[in-house]
Amino acid sequence: MSRRKRVLSGIQPSGEAHLGNYLGAIRNWVALLDDYDCFYCIVDLHAITQDYDPGELPRRVFDLAVSLVASGLDPDRCTIFVQSHVPEHAELTWLLTTVTPLGDLYRMTQFKEKSEGRESVNAGLLNYPILQAADILLYRPDLVPVGEDQRQHVELTREIARRWNARFGDYLPEPEALIGEGRRIFGTDGVSKMSKSRNNTIPLLGSPEETWSAIRGAVTDPARVRKDDPGNPHVCNVFALHEHFTDPAGRADIEIRCQTASIGCVECKRILSDGVSARLAPIRARAEELEAHPERVREILAEGAEKARRVAGETVAEVYRRMGLGEVPVPVGT
Ligand code: TRP
Ligand code: SF4
Repeated sequence: MSRRKRVLSGIQPSGEAHLGNYLGAIRNWVALLDDYDCFYCIVDLHAITQDYDPGELPRRVFDLAVSLVASGLDPDRCTIFVQSHVPEHAELTWLLTTVTPLGDLYRMTQFKEKSEGRESVNAGLLNYPILQAADILLYRPDLVPVGEDQRQHVELTREIARRWNARFGDYLPEPEALIGEGRRIFGTDGVSKMSKSRNNTIPLLGSPEETWSAIRGAVTDPARVRKDDPGNPHVCNVFALHEHFTDPAGRADIEIRCQTASIGCVECKRILSDGVSARLAPIRARAEELEAHPERVREILAEGAEKARRVAGETVAEVYRRMGLGEVPVPVGT
């Protein structure tokens, strides 16, 4: 019997989950449940490489777990777990540092962006990709579903696996990145990727009022100043979001009415906001249900960590063995 192909991915608990997370990652993860053996990791050890409040982190992890399960990552059909609950992640990271060239780490785009202009940069930010490589290689997955911005990290993971295998024998398979199709999801500022740190998000679990309040403020076609100016939907991020929430006929209608100035941006945003709220209503309902039963969430994560450890523990044991670690030497001649 051939085993199902395995998938691993990770997501940072960096604040309230938003539409960018859902459209860019979570919904793709859900789509893989039928055909793959999926491991999904909440990467709290990555989150601590940036400023954070230790008192708040557990809440963020909890909220993200709720969002993931509510979005359709059914814990009976995949393994959802928290990175710091599986100590093998930190352990393998150390082992992999010894085969990772410093130059490769300094070259990473994400490191350059995050360290730029800072007078002091912690080593965790530099070593971040090695922890990510450990996240991945521990589960020996076939595929790693990620956004385009993570391609370089998966490439480095493959490079680390190659170097380790060359030194200690073929054991760690090189995984493939599975890059989600579709365009990047921009935030309400219309120009940068939706992210909590840019303050341009539309919340995943917001009430209809909160959804409206985020969408109402979204930047549209900047050339459309007054309501009777014709607009260009193809430079407008509100229109781009309609692609996910409005049917093709509705979109065609908006397109023409925008170009002929027969719809105003407020009405257009209203339609979007109603579409978003309708689509997310079942996810919100499931989230409320889970929030009312925190012990259920803890149980899901405890079971997830246990399942993850079974695989991760096996990998680390073999890596130790092949690296000549973890065993008391037997004196020659006995
Ligand atoms: N670095 C990823 C991000 O910022 C998150 C991540 C951590 C990840 N470990 C991973 C993604 C392992 C895929 C696989 O989005
Ligand atoms: Fe954008 Fe809609 Fe306004 Fe046109 S009407 S500019 S598509 S928000």
